[in-house]
Amino acid sequence: MTTLPRRYHIITFGCQMNKADSERMAGILEDMGFEWSEDPNQAGVILYNTCSIRDNAEQKVYSYLGRQAKRKHEQLDLTLIVAGCVAQQEGEALLRRVPELDLVMGPQHANRLKDLLQQVFDGNQVVATEQVHIMEDITKPQRDSTVTAWVNVIYGCNERCTYCVVPNVRGVEQSRTPFVIRTEIEELGRQGYKEVTLLGQNIDAYGRDLPGVTSEGRHQHTLTDLLYYIHDVSGIERIRFATSHPRYFTERLIKACAELPKVCEHFHIPFQSGDNEMLKRMARGYTKEKYRQIINTIREYMPDASISADAIVGFPGETEEQFENTLQLVTDIGFDLVNTAAYSPRPGTPAAVWEEQLSEEIKSDRLQRLNHLVSIKAAERSQRYMGRIEEVLVEVQNSKDKTQVMGRTSGNRLTFFAGDINELKGKLIKVKITDFRAFSLTGEAVEELVVNG
Ligand code: SAH
Ligand code: SF4
Ligand code: F3S
Repeated sequence: MTTLPRRYHIITFGCQMNKADSERMAGILEDMGFEWSEDPNQAGVILYNTCSIRDNAEQKVYSYLGRQAKRKHEQLDLTLIVAGCVAQQEGEALLRRVPELDLVMGPQHANRLKDLLQQVFDGNQVVATEQVHIMEDITKPQRDSTVTAWVNVIYGCNERCTYCVVPNVRGVEQSRTPFVIRTEIEELGRQGYKEVTLLGQNIDAYGRDLPGVTSEGRHQHTLTDLLYYIHDVSGIERIRFATSHPRYFTERLIKACAELPKVCEHFHIPFQSGDNEMLKRMARGYTKEKYRQIINTIREYMPDASISADAIVGFPGETEEQFENTLQLVTDIGFDLVNTAAYSPRPGTPAAVWEEQLSEEIKSDRLQRLNHLVSIKAAERSQRYMGRIEEVLVEVQNSKDKTQVMGRTSGNRLTFFAGDINELKGKLIKVKITDFRAFSLTGEAVEELVVNG
């Protein structure tokens, strides 16, 4: 038996929620005296933060896990952890499948990693998947970026979209208080962060579970109120939020975004399908007409705002005609970006057991056709930037061309331009756009907008 160094490695799958959780768990491990190891084979603690949104995401985890489980036969003091949504979904069953595991922990337990690891080091095999009230975060996340940061504002999801595993694995909605959110953002501002992205699976639900009602009878703490409340935090230049749900999206929110200069001109509002019958069967709670209305209202207040979305093709029973309604919506709206997916039946969700499941051939054919249209439309949207001067917040070096840096426009378009990352990182730069592709832009720096130390 070897004695492994106190080093850790985390592999993260899935959405921004998982990325944020991984950063917090990394913070806890650092606090316990572990150091990051770039090479998983040199690490004594390996944590997989998993996603189960589609079957292929879940299968990826098993193939990675298999390799490390084998390593454990020679290195008995290797600690193997599965966290995140597959952990929550599978629970004990994961231990039966991979007996080498030390710890299986659902997303609601991320902040408890230290306690759970202690139990493992005391010689136990631990499963932590019971529904709990998420502890307020007292850890210091080990964040990937020094420029932009995720800030959770609401955990869980109370929707019941018939295809979706998230409510099962992330539990019920739980909002953080405006005060702790602001405190976290103030700290980020002090540390030199320039951008925050407020996170929630259904961020429009923010505050529904907090006490307080206004004289007009609405909840006192809504996402809109939160934007006003955090807007003046010093040091923070940009505020983003995701994901919006068309069912709860309000004109009041759009007005706030138009009014508040730090809030970026970008909305991520998944529509899932452009067909009303499909939307009904998905239990989304809106029609395509309502969705179009939302986009029209956004464009009234903010004509240049970027719109991105998610869509699913091949939902059970989807006819060719119904799929074409999705194509039509994408054509009409002109999205800047659409994340597309073929429907994947998920355990414990209603649609998984419906008859009328479509064949893989039909699903992948529709996915291809939709992707093709999405990139044509995205290129049209990119084209509008040509010759314009855009503010770009510089994040990292372009990994493919080290003479360039990469940042984003307010509308969330990736933008590349010549420059030295050491000089430009974290700065807002005016960039003249000289070239475009479907999902990214190239330009040249015109001048520095704000000099930040
Ligand atoms: N809360 C967000 C997104 C949640 S998951 C929302 O309500 O839109 C991210 C995306 O994964 C979804 O928008 C959906 O497009 C996709 N997705 C979720 N479940 C899926 C499934 N079973 N098969 C295929 N795609 C799925
Ligand atoms: Fe899933 Fe629907 Fe909740 Fe989004 S709103 S996380 S798609 S159940
Ligand atoms: Fe995946 Fe869980 Fe996010 S299932 S998409 S990691 S909430």
